[in-house]
Amino acid sequence: METIVSGARPTGQLHLGHLHGALKNWVKLQDHYRCYFFVADWHALTTDYATPQGINQSTVEMVMDWLSVGLDPTKAVLFRQSRIKEHAELHLLYSMITPVPWLERNPTYKEQIKELTGKDLSTYGFLGYPVLQAADITIYKANKVPVGVDQAPHVELTREIVRRFNQVYKPIFPEPEVLLTETQKLPGLDGRKMSKSYGNAVFLSDAPKEIDQKISRMVTDPARARRTDPGEPEKCPAFQLHKVYSTPDEIAEVSAGCRSAGIGCLDCKKIMIRHVIDDLAPFREKRAQFESKPREVEEVLRAGNQMAQKQAAATMIEVRETLGL
Ligand code: TRP
Ligand code: SF4
Repeated sequence: METIVSGARPTGQLHLGHLHGALKNWVKLQDHYRCYFFVADWHALTTDYATPQGINQSTVEMVMDWLSVGLDPTKAVLFRQSRIKEHAELHLLYSMITPVPWLERNPTYKEQIKELTGKDLSTYGFLGYPVLQAADITIYKANKVPVGVDQAPHVELTREIVRRFNQVYKPIFPEPEVLLTETQKLPGLDGRKMSKSYGNAVFLSDAPKEIDQKISRMVTDPARARRTDPGEPEKCPAFQLHKVYSTPDEIAEVSAGCRSAGIGCLDCKKIMIRHVIDDLAPFREKRAQFESKPREVEEVLRAGNQMAQKQAAATMIEVRETLGL
């Protein structure tokens, strides 16, 4: 069975963007691969070193959501990066063979420096972030890494580091391949990308009433200022949710109604809101169970950490032997 590794920063409560961007995919993959999914808590420090306080809480919240949507600790190894010190050791050894220009030309690095202007990104840790990621992936000898396009350059860099390691020392690592997650792009309530920090997210744990209120206020095609103005569904962020959640018949019906001004935006949204609520209901129920038993989540992580550690330790014995250390 091939091995898959993927990680996510501890962002706390997860939203629809995470669900359709990664989680549903992970849940499918766990039946076909040996999967390692982890909380990348060290990675959180690469951009937010000054605020480590929330990491524990965010880790538990996120893993609760993972379990609620169906990630299954009997199928996949769920663990926390900072509990496996071997990642740090391999990161150190990789840092010796990684040319700085490889890191400086990383498109994600350049983009983040430009976009995250409020943060201090002039650190060694932020530049070396993909080297840590290379260690995360290869310490489990991953064959495939399911990520979105934004992370693809990091996996490419991982391949380059692995190639160099295998050449300079001994070929002990497989070159991992990107398994591109074709993300259905989900806009947030204000039409921008859904993100907790934008305050435009529908969370997996939101109550039906909250979901209803949030989506009822979601931006629509600005051309429909009045009920009698016709609109164009493709220019409407709420319609993107229809495309994910509604049936083909419903989509056809609201599209026609939008273009002819035969349906109001609120009635149009109501059709989709019902689906969102129904789809999230089982996750919410499961989450409530975990919330009443936080020990269970801790136990899942403890067991996962142990399994991951065993594999990571075995790889590091091989690595140390290879280098004669
Ligand atoms: N860099 C990823 C992110 O910010 C998280 C991550 C860390 C990761 N290590 C990884 C993803 C290894 C895939 C594989 O989202
Ligand atoms: Fe969007 Fe529906 Fe309103 Fe058209 S009718 S603008 S698709 S919410």
